[in-house]
Amino acid sequence: MTNKKIKAVILLTALSCVGANAQKLPQLGKSPMQDIINAMTVEEKASMLIGSEMFGPTLEGNPRLSVPGAAGATFPIKRLGIPPTVLADGPAGLRIQPTRENDKKTYYATAFPVGTALASTWNTVLIEEVGKAIGNEVKEYGADVLLAPAINIHRNPLNGRNFEYYSEDPVISGEIAAAYINGVQSNGVGTSIKHFAANSQETNRLSINEHISERAMREIYLRAFEIVVKKSQPWTVMSSYNKINGVYTSASTDLLTTILRDEWGFKGFVMSDWFGGYESFESLGTTSSDVVKQLTAGNDLLMPGTKLQYEKIVAAIKSGALPKEIVDRNIRFILEMVVKSPAFKKYKFSNNPDLKKHAEITRQAATEGMILLKNEGSILPYTKKTSPIAVFGTTSYNFISGGTGSGDVNEAYTVSLMDGLKNAGYQIDVDLKNIYVPYVDDAARKEIARREKEGGILAFPKRMVELEFNKDLLNKAAKSNSLAIITIGRNSGENTDRKIYDDFYLAQDEVKLIHDVAKAFHKEGKKVVVILNIGGAIETNSWKDKVDGILLAWQPGQEGGNSVADVFSGSVNPSGKLTMTFPIDYNNHPSAANWLGTPVENPKDVSYEEGIYVGYRYFNTFGIKPSYEFGYGKSYTDFKFLKVSLSSKTFDKEITVNVTITNTGKVAGKEVVQLYLGAPAVKTDKPESELKGFAKTKLLQPGESQVLNVTLLPKDLSSFVEGQDAWVAEAGTYTIKIGSSSLDVRATETFELTSERIIEKVQNTFKADTDLKVLRSN
Ligand code: BGC
Repeated sequence: MTNKKIKAVILLTALSCVGANAQKLPQLGKSPMQDIINAMTVEEKASMLIGSEMFGPTLEGNPRLSVPGAAGATFPIKRLGIPPTVLADGPAGLRIQPTRENDKKTYYATAFPVGTALASTWNTVLIEEVGKAIGNEVKEYGADVLLAPAINIHRNPLNGRNFEYYSEDPVISGEIAAAYINGVQSNGVGTSIKHFAANSQETNRLSINEHISERAMREIYLRAFEIVVKKSQPWTVMSSYNKINGVYTSASTDLLTTILRDEWGFKGFVMSDWFGGYESFESLGTTSSDVVKQLTAGNDLLMPGTKLQYEKIVAAIKSGALPKEIVDRNIRFILEMVVKSPAFKKYKFSNNPDLKKHAEITRQAATEGMILLKNEGSILPYTKKTSPIAVFGTTSYNFISGGTGSGDVNEAYTVSLMDGLKNAGYQIDVDLKNIYVPYVDDAARKEIARREKEGGILAFPKRMVELEFNKDLLNKAAKSNSLAIITIGRNSGENTDRKIYDDFYLAQDEVKLIHDVAKAFHKEGKKVVVILNIGGAIETNSWKDKVDGILLAWQPGQEGGNSVADVFSGSVNPSGKLTMTFPIDYNNHPSAANWLGTPVENPKDVSYEEGIYVGYRYFNTFGIKPSYEFGYGKSYTDFKFLKVSLSSKTFDKEITVNVTITNTGKVAGKEVVQLYLGAPAVKTDKPESELKGFAKTKLLQPGESQVLNVTLLPKDLSSFVEGQDAWVAEAGTYTIKIGSSSLDVRATETFELTSERIIEKVQNTFKADTDLKVLRSN
């Protein structure tokens, strides 16, 4: 062999050795998953099971979040081809930081309507479009998973986060969330349905022990999640902070494995809420959550990850307290997400989503979620643009696009009501505007400073006190304007619950404003319209008779003022319907008796004594009249529910209900068909009737009809029977009520189930830790 040849052979051998070495290291996406997991060190495994710390790198080599303002990330292991994936908040849009150091570019995201507003559309097709737009921003700004949607049940109107959630009913919650998730995930990015489960209050949210019956869990607090998992397979689920019957949800095998995976077939991974499983944020530096219990129960990833958790996991793996199968199982679920992510696919995000197009989508979605509560003398739509309108209420000038906390989106702008009206060609009383604007600007500046000082995004927002006007000014305004608008605003957010007084009930300054304005304008024969710029239910009964029109605009996202003007002017006919009861009195809600729990000064335990009687299930079964009922919402036109027919009068596998809706009024509009089912309740106590399905018409022109159908499946007939660990449908006559609301029933039909059926046998879960007495209707 010549020298040259020898050199060439040595080189080739060396090269093939390097190749063999590289080949020995398995790579994500190319090698079997188990090989990748086997190649991890104990330290790497521990790192994979916790997130990269929110406030900086927990461990050496762990990069800071690549998308500033995102909430967290999964751990990267470069040598195995595992990139970090970025998890960022929602649900009203993507939450990231809008500006960056040494960077002139801005990174604003679109603020979409809040959860209550989206759900009020009852339009799953539209919500899927909203989801697509949000998902596009997630992808184009370089995130992988959106921490949304949020579907906790409105157990009580005072929950500070109800605005993020959808409803007091699991069916509307589940259907809307599934549509949202399908939309977001169609972009090839993930979602995290949260907070699993029964995250019903913010007060002591990290430690509260909720005593809940298994029936209420399954029928009310879990049902929406079940619908979501089965209809949209979210990439991830976020467990909640609270305990249920003594067990942290993040450490509950019943919840995270038995029900979520074994019974419902969930395929993604579960992450904890941020620092879930700790008694308090103060304990973070000194204690760790019970990582072995959490990881074993099926909480695959602990977010955002702390150093103490990391150390505990390493020790537990080494000692065997945390078995290899559990560790590998959890990591596998996480890696299965990573493989699907844009980060893994090296997607070249643009940082340039089409914000203009998305502004159009949010504007439209917001109008469709608006609910016309009152329209005396058809004051709306209001089309007179030749004389000015007197615009009262601080919120008219400082519109609230969404709530605070992790659900607050950093949008580029919010269109105020004043600007929305002006954009639509209305004239505004300039004298009033000149009084309001400086007051509101000053109050807004002070509020921002106060919140920054008192906890930033977690500081509870304070309401601006309403201005008081003297009689002369009001009389003058009533003479020179053709109409008065009063906006009542409410804001709330994570970490704190709402209050009964000055929040659920209007404050004295607001009551006075409504009273004084109405008096002055009515004396002149002029009308008064109230716009509600709120996130959840408030009291309306004591003042609704004083005004002529009430439009519930919710917190409608960044195009808020334009969206209100679209409905106000009639360019959009309102078609939203309430997804929660507006009670006459706060204490009408059965949960008012034990809301927040005991001891009152610092609640530790809360008993869900109302059982399944949450929201309209209670009001309609116990005959309590609300101010506005679940499902309620008026239109500028009228609809007739003409023909209702069933595919069969005896239930076998399913029954389809056809309803013909005709627009009998003068303008185009949409209507929602709501199907409530009353079941025989001989053996099991049941609500008078429950929402089982719904459908919304397209835009029907005057005289136009559409046939809508809703299908009832076996589970829809059943209730959860604790003694039998099963969903059971009783034999007998079932009553279908087709309504325009839960109380406005337009047609009734019946069908028979000839013999009792066990629809689904399940595991016994949520063992009681106290003697819980739950409400019954008989
Ligand atoms: C909230 C979650 C949120 C998380 C990350 C928590 O405080 O409860 O909804 O996704 O923070 O920001």
